[in-house]
Amino acid sequence: MSDDKYPPESGRRRFVKGVVGGSALAGVTTTGSVAIESSTTDTGEGGGTTPYVGAEKVAGPARRAMPQIPLELDDDGYLRGVWPEVEEVERGGETVAVAETELGGRTYSSKWFQYCGAQNYPGVQPDADRDNYVRYSSRAPYEWQTEMEPGAKVHIDDLRGYESWGNGVGKSGVGKPARCRWRSEDLPKGEENLVLPVVLVRSSRIEAAARDDEWLAASTVQGTVAIFDKCTHFCCTPGFKETEQSTKFDAEDRLYCGCHQSVYDPFSLVERVFTALPRSE
Ligand code: FES
Repeated sequence: MSDDKYPPESGRRRFVKGVVGGSALAGVTTTGSVAIESSTTDTGEGGGTTPYVGAEKVAGPARRAMPQIPLELDDDGYLRGVWPEVEEVERGGETVAVAETELGGRTYSSKWFQYCGAQNYPGVQPDADRDNYVRYSSRAPYEWQTEMEPGAKVHIDDLRGYESWGNGVGKSGVGKPARCRWRSEDLPKGEENLVLPVVLVRSSRIEAAARDDEWLAASTVQGTVAIFDKCTHFCCTPGFKETEQSTKFDAEDRLYCGCHQSVYDPFSLVERVFTALPRSE
Protein backbone atom coordinates (compact mmCIF):
# COMPACT_ATOMS: atom_id res chain seq x y z
CA MET A 1 0.00 0.00 0.00
CA SER A 2 1.23 3.43 -0.67
CA ASP A 3 2.35 5.93 1.88
CA ASP A 4 0.30 8.68 0.33
CA LYS A 5 -2.83 7.27 1.93
CA TYR A 6 -1.88 9.28 4.98
CA PRO A 7 -4.08 12.31 5.37
CA PRO A 8 -1.80 15.11 4.16
CA GLU A 9 -2.59 17.27 7.14
CA SER A 10 -1.62 14.67 9.75
CA GLY A 11 2.14 15.12 9.55
CA ARG A 12 2.29 11.52 10.73
CA ARG A 13 4.13 10.21 7.73
CA ARG A 14 7.17 12.26 8.50
CA PHE A 15 7.05 11.22 12.16
CA VAL A 16 6.78 7.52 11.45
CA LYS A 17 9.58 7.62 8.89
CA GLY A 18 11.68 9.46 11.40
CA VAL A 19 11.34 7.02 14.24
CA VAL A 20 11.92 3.85 12.29
CA GLY A 21 15.01 5.07 10.48
CA GLY A 22 18.18 3.30 11.44
CA SER A 23 16.59 0.07 12.63
CA ALA A 24 18.76 -2.63 11.10
CA LEU A 25 18.40 -5.84 12.99
CA ALA A 26 19.56 -9.37 12.84
CA GLY A 27 16.76 -11.69 13.78
CA VAL A 28 14.03 -9.26 14.64
CA THR A 29 13.11 -6.72 12.03
CA THR A 30 11.48 -3.43 12.74
CA THR A 31 10.70 -2.30 9.26
CA GLY A 32 10.06 1.12 7.90
CA SER A 33 7.27 -0.06 5.66
CA VAL A 34 4.08 1.48 6.88
CA ALA A 35 0.75 0.45 5.50
CA ILE A 36 -2.67 1.75 6.36
CA GLU A 37 -4.66 -1.44 6.51
CA SER A 38 -8.10 0.01 6.70
CA SER A 39 -9.51 2.69 4.45
CA THR A 40 -12.34 3.69 6.74
CA THR A 41 -12.21 6.99 8.54
CA ASP A 42 -14.32 5.88 11.47
CA THR A 43 -13.54 7.99 14.51
CA GLY A 44 -15.21 8.43 17.87
CA GLU A 45 -14.29 8.29 21.52
CA GLY A 46 -10.72 7.11 21.51
CA GLY A 47 -10.79 5.62 17.99
CA GLY A 48 -9.14 6.57 14.72
CA THR A 49 -5.97 6.14 12.72
CA THR A 50 -3.33 4.58 14.94
CA PRO A 51 0.27 3.60 14.24
CA TYR A 52 1.35 0.57 16.26
CA VAL A 53 3.97 -2.17 16.39
CA GLY A 54 3.04 -5.83 16.09
CA ALA A 55 4.00 -9.35 15.06
CA GLU A 56 4.07 -9.31 11.27
CA LYS A 57 1.36 -11.19 9.44
CA VAL A 58 3.16 -13.47 7.02
CA ALA A 59 0.38 -15.69 5.62
CA GLY A 60 -3.36 -16.26 5.61
CA PRO A 61 -6.42 -14.06 5.47
CA ALA A 62 -5.67 -11.86 8.50
CA ARG A 63 -5.41 -8.21 7.61
CA ARG A 64 -2.44 -7.01 9.57
CA ALA A 65 0.08 -7.56 12.36
CA MET A 66 -1.09 -8.48 15.88
CA PRO A 67 -0.16 -5.73 18.33
CA GLN A 68 2.71 -5.99 20.74
CA ILE A 69 2.31 -5.25 24.45
CA PRO A 70 5.44 -3.50 25.81
CA LEU A 71 6.79 -5.27 28.90
CA GLU A 72 8.58 -4.20 32.05
CA LEU A 73 9.94 -6.09 35.05
CA ASP A 74 9.12 -5.27 38.66
CA ASP A 75 11.76 -5.35 41.40
CA ASP A 76 10.95 -8.97 42.20
CA GLY A 77 11.26 -10.20 38.62
CA TYR A 78 7.57 -10.37 37.67
CA LEU A 79 6.48 -9.29 34.19
CA ARG A 80 4.09 -6.42 33.75
CA GLY A 81 2.58 -5.00 30.57
CA VAL A 82 3.13 -1.29 30.26
CA TRP A 83 -0.06 0.75 30.51
CA PRO A 84 0.35 4.44 29.73
CA GLU A 85 -0.65 7.18 32.16
CA VAL A 86 -4.16 8.39 31.48
CA GLU A 87 -4.80 11.96 30.49
CA GLU A 88 -7.97 13.85 29.78
CA VAL A 89 -7.68 15.69 26.49
CA GLU A 90 -9.97 17.89 24.45
CA ARG A 91 -10.76 16.35 21.09
CA GLY A 92 -13.47 17.59 18.77
CA GLY A 93 -14.97 19.72 21.52
CA GLU A 94 -15.25 16.78 23.95
CA THR A 95 -13.15 15.61 26.86
CA VAL A 96 -11.76 12.16 26.14
CA ALA A 97 -9.61 9.85 28.30
CA VAL A 98 -6.41 8.89 26.51
CA ALA A 99 -3.73 6.45 27.65
CA GLU A 100 -0.73 7.29 25.52
CA THR A 101 2.99 7.67 26.07
CA GLU A 102 6.28 8.01 24.25
CA LEU A 103 8.23 4.77 24.52
CA GLY A 104 11.34 3.66 22.69
CA GLY A 105 10.97 6.33 20.03
CA ARG A 106 7.33 5.58 19.30
CA THR A 107 3.91 6.57 20.55
CA TYR A 108 2.40 3.70 22.53
CA SER A 109 -1.34 3.93 23.06
CA SER A 110 -4.12 1.86 24.57
CA LYS A 111 -5.77 2.25 21.16
CA TRP A 112 -3.47 -0.50 19.88
CA PHE A 113 -5.94 -3.01 21.35
CA GLN A 114 -9.18 -1.44 20.16
CA TYR A 115 -10.47 -4.01 17.68
CA CYS A 116 -12.33 -7.32 17.72
CA GLY A 117 -14.70 -6.05 20.40
CA ALA A 118 -11.83 -5.55 22.85
CA GLN A 119 -12.41 -1.80 22.57
CA ASN A 120 -15.28 -2.38 24.99
CA TYR A 121 -13.55 -4.85 27.34
CA PRO A 122 -13.01 -3.53 30.86
CA GLY A 123 -9.22 -3.95 30.63
CA VAL A 124 -8.88 -1.75 27.55
CA GLN A 125 -10.60 1.26 29.11
CA PRO A 126 -7.81 3.84 29.57
CA ASP A 127 -8.64 4.56 33.19
CA ALA A 128 -9.38 0.97 34.30
CA ASP A 129 -7.38 0.48 37.49
CA ARG A 130 -5.32 -2.70 37.05
CA ASP A 131 -1.95 -3.87 38.36
CA ASN A 132 -0.84 -4.76 34.81
CA TYR A 133 0.87 -8.03 35.75
CA VAL A 134 0.90 -10.69 33.06
CA ARG A 135 -0.81 -13.75 34.58
CA TYR A 136 -1.13 -17.35 33.53
CA SER A 137 -4.19 -18.30 31.54
CA SER A 138 -6.41 -21.13 32.70
CA ARG A 139 -5.50 -22.86 29.45
CA ALA A 140 -1.99 -24.35 29.57
CA PRO A 141 -0.98 -25.72 26.16
CA TYR A 142 2.59 -26.51 27.28
CA GLU A 143 3.57 -29.18 29.75
CA TRP A 144 5.76 -26.84 31.78
CA GLN A 145 2.88 -24.41 32.14
CA THR A 146 0.55 -27.01 33.67
CA GLU A 147 2.53 -26.57 36.90
CA MET A 148 1.64 -22.91 37.03
CA GLU A 149 -1.45 -21.75 38.88
CA PRO A 150 -3.94 -20.03 36.54
CA GLY A 151 -4.03 -16.36 37.50
CA ALA A 152 -0.54 -16.43 39.05
CA LYS A 153 1.88 -13.72 37.98
CA VAL A 154 4.53 -14.70 35.44
CA HIS A 155 8.08 -14.49 36.76
CA ILE A 156 10.90 -14.02 34.27
CA ASP A 157 12.61 -17.11 35.71
CA ASP A 158 9.59 -19.23 34.76
CA LEU A 159 10.81 -18.78 31.20
CA ARG A 160 14.31 -20.06 31.92
CA GLY A 161 15.64 -22.69 29.57
CA TYR A 162 14.34 -20.66 26.64
CA GLU A 163 17.63 -21.09 24.76
CA SER A 164 16.90 -24.77 24.23
CA TRP A 165 13.21 -25.30 25.06
CA GLY A 166 11.16 -27.41 22.68
CA ASN A 167 7.98 -29.47 22.73
CA GLY A 168 8.30 -31.49 19.55
CA VAL A 169 6.51 -28.91 17.39
CA GLY A 170 9.01 -27.29 15.01
CA LYS A 171 12.59 -26.65 16.09
CA SER A 172 13.81 -26.53 19.67
CA GLY A 173 15.66 -23.44 20.85
CA VAL A 174 13.49 -20.96 18.90
CA GLY A 175 11.77 -19.58 21.96
CA LYS A 176 9.85 -20.60 25.07
CA PRO A 177 6.18 -19.53 25.09
CA ALA A 178 3.53 -19.03 27.75
CA ARG A 179 -0.20 -18.53 27.33
CA CYS A 180 -1.36 -15.67 29.53
CA ARG A 181 -3.81 -12.86 30.13
CA TRP A 182 -3.51 -9.23 31.13
CA ARG A 183 -5.59 -6.52 32.86
CA SER A 184 -8.33 -9.10 33.34
CA GLU A 185 -8.55 -9.73 37.10
CA ASP A 186 -11.85 -9.64 38.93
CA LEU A 187 -14.07 -9.67 35.89
CA PRO A 188 -17.71 -9.66 36.98
CA LYS A 189 -19.69 -12.88 36.74
CA GLY A 190 -20.82 -13.45 33.18
CA GLU A 191 -17.98 -11.37 31.78
CA GLU A 192 -15.18 -13.90 32.27
CA ASN A 193 -14.85 -14.17 28.51
CA LEU A 194 -13.66 -10.57 28.32
CA VAL A 195 -10.06 -11.38 29.20
CA LEU A 196 -7.24 -9.84 27.22
CA PRO A 197 -5.27 -12.82 25.87
CA VAL A 198 -1.49 -12.63 25.63
CA VAL A 199 1.22 -14.88 24.23
CA LEU A 200 4.70 -14.50 25.69
CA VAL A 201 7.77 -15.76 23.86
CA ARG A 202 11.25 -15.58 25.37
CA SER A 203 13.96 -16.04 22.77
CA SER A 204 17.67 -15.52 22.21
CA ARG A 205 16.83 -13.83 18.90
CA ILE A 206 14.84 -11.11 20.60
CA GLU A 207 17.46 -10.75 23.31
CA ALA A 208 20.20 -10.19 20.72
CA ALA A 209 18.16 -7.82 18.58
CA ALA A 210 17.16 -5.68 21.56
CA ARG A 211 20.80 -4.75 22.18
CA ASP A 212 20.75 -2.74 19.03
CA ASP A 213 17.25 -1.31 18.75
CA GLU A 214 15.64 1.45 20.77
CA TRP A 215 12.09 0.13 20.49
CA LEU A 216 12.97 -3.46 21.36
CA ALA A 217 15.16 -2.35 24.24
CA ALA A 218 12.22 -0.39 25.66
CA SER A 219 9.46 -2.91 24.99
CA THR A 220 10.96 -6.35 25.62
CA VAL A 221 12.46 -7.82 28.80
CA GLN A 222 15.45 -10.18 28.72
CA GLY A 223 14.43 -11.55 25.34
CA THR A 224 10.73 -11.74 26.18
CA VAL A 225 8.12 -10.26 23.86
CA ALA A 226 4.37 -10.07 24.56
CA ILE A 227 1.79 -10.18 21.78
CA PHE A 228 -1.88 -9.26 22.22
CA ASP A 229 -3.39 -12.51 21.07
CA LYS A 230 -6.41 -11.60 19.00
CA CYS A 231 -6.19 -12.59 15.36
CA THR A 232 -6.79 -9.61 13.09
CA HIS A 233 -8.95 -11.81 10.86
CA PHE A 234 -11.90 -12.99 12.98
CA CYS A 235 -10.48 -12.62 16.48
CA CYS A 236 -9.39 -16.19 17.32
CA THR A 237 -6.35 -16.73 19.58
CA PRO A 238 -3.30 -17.92 17.61
CA GLY A 239 -0.73 -20.05 19.41
CA PHE A 240 3.04 -20.53 19.35
CA LYS A 241 3.95 -24.22 18.95
CA GLU A 242 0.54 -25.27 20.22
CA THR A 243 -0.37 -27.69 17.48
CA GLU A 244 1.35 -30.07 15.10
CA GLN A 245 -1.07 -28.87 12.42
CA SER A 246 0.92 -25.63 12.21
CA THR A 247 3.76 -27.51 10.48
CA LYS A 248 1.56 -27.96 7.40
CA PHE A 249 1.46 -24.19 7.00
CA ASP A 250 5.12 -23.44 7.65
CA ALA A 251 4.02 -21.97 10.97
CA GLU A 252 5.57 -24.36 13.49
CA ASP A 253 8.02 -21.71 14.71
CA ARG A 254 5.57 -18.82 14.48
CA LEU A 255 2.16 -17.83 15.78
CA TYR A 256 -0.44 -19.92 14.02
CA CYS A 257 -4.18 -19.28 13.95
CA GLY A 258 -6.00 -22.56 13.52
CA CYS A 259 -9.29 -20.88 12.57
CA HIS A 260 -8.31 -19.98 8.99
CA GLN A 261 -4.54 -20.54 8.92
CA SER A 262 -3.19 -17.05 9.40
CA VAL A 263 0.46 -16.93 10.45
CA TYR A 264 2.27 -14.21 12.39
CA ASP A 265 5.98 -13.88 13.08
CA PRO A 266 6.77 -12.84 16.68
CA PHE A 267 10.40 -12.31 15.63
CA SER A 268 9.47 -9.73 13.02
CA LEU A 269 8.01 -6.74 14.81
CA VAL A 270 6.78 -4.24 12.28
CA GLU A 271 5.19 -0.85 12.39
CA ARG A 272 1.72 -0.67 10.91
CA VAL A 273 -1.26 1.67 10.96
CA PHE A 274 -4.88 0.71 11.49
CA THR A 275 -8.15 2.33 12.38
CA ALA A 276 -8.82 1.74 16.06
CA LEU A 277 -12.49 1.26 16.83
CA PRO A 278 -14.05 3.81 19.14
CA ARG A 279 -14.94 2.72 22.66
CA SER A 280 -18.57 2.83 23.56
CA GLU A 281 -19.51 5.49 26.09
S1 FES B 1 -7.26 -16.71 10.56
FE1 FES B 1 -9.37 -16.38 10.80
S2 FES B 1 -9.55 -15.85 12.90
FE2 FES B 1 -7.43 -16.17 12.63
